[in-house]
Amino acid sequence: MQSSPFKSDILKGKVAFITGGGSGINFGVAKALASHGAAIAMMGRREEVLQEACNELAGLGVKTFFKSGDVRSPEACEAAIEAAVQNLGRIDILVNGAAGNFLCPPELLSSNGFKTVIDIDLNGTFNMCRYAYKHLKESKGLILNISATLHYVGTPFQSHVSAAKAGIDALTINLAAEWGPDGIRVCGIAPGPIGDTEGMRRLAPGEAGEKLKKAIPLGRFGATEDIGLAAVFLASSAANYITGETLVVDGGQWLAKPPMVPRELVEQMIAKPKKDA
Ligand code: HXC
Repeated sequence: MQSSPFKSDILKGKVAFITGGGSGINFGVAKALASHGAAIAMMGRREEVLQEACNELAGLGVKTFFKSGDVRSPEACEAAIEAAVQNLGRIDILVNGAAGNFLCPPELLSSNGFKTVIDIDLNGTFNMCRYAYKHLKESKGLILNISATLHYVGTPFQSHVSAAKAGIDALTINLAAEWGPDGIRVCGIAPGPIGDTEGMRRLAPGEAGEKLKKAIPLGRFGATEDIGLAAVFLASSAANYITGETLVVDGGQWLAKPPMVPRELVEQMIAKPKKDA
């Protein structure tokens, strides 16, 4: 990963449990937490993906554990959490990264399509928080919900995901207030367009991606390391007094609108600045 500004042992002794941790942004988060000392537990639907991700981490000397399962099933969440605690001893950081997405206009989306995304993203996040609670209370741990910026504005073809992520942000705030007295912090990260991920392949493939990139104020797609290092920051003691906050890591993408008048036209319209006397 890119060089980290943090010491490599700041998460030593901690255990992170990451849903959807076998690939994409979530594997980036797993690698970042692991490279700062954390042991890693993962849950996801595809056993071979989890196995491969854990093999890669184990090759770097990281303690790992995985259990396949679907976050839509409360029973699967509870079983995976208990198995991880049995294997790695504790849970300090729960990262809710499992998500589902596809582009679809709302007038063509079936009720089951809408429900499926709410079930994976929002209900799955709740299930994990619910069953990890007692372990996080014991460790005075952190919940980190992977959100998005889609719902800050109206994003075409994303009504289902926007509703789910808005719910997740509400859960982040609510659980932060409810579980703060138990010593649990609850934060979120809202990634923007992160290159070479399943999300980008689904939402902005090919030319659409190139167009999107041009509109990002910081001029590039994010990397999974950008999200990973944000997670390390929020998991570190530097963030001990931060809770209920969802950190946007998107290069400024969501807040930049196309200009009302194209730049070239504005340049023609405005008075040229006078040269220095
Ligand atoms: C319209 C669709 C659809 C599509 C599925 N459905 N794909 N509707 N357009 N492209 C509908 C189906 O018709 C069905 O409704 C219902 O959704 C459930 O579909 P299934 O295929 O049976 O569900 P399932 O196998 O559980 O798959 C879940 C999934 C799938 C979300 C639909 O795409 C998936 O597993 N994705 C996981 C990986 C993923 O999406 N990763 C990207 C996350 S990116 P009916 O009515 O027919 O029964 C991300 C980034 C967000 O989250 C932020 C970016 C900036």
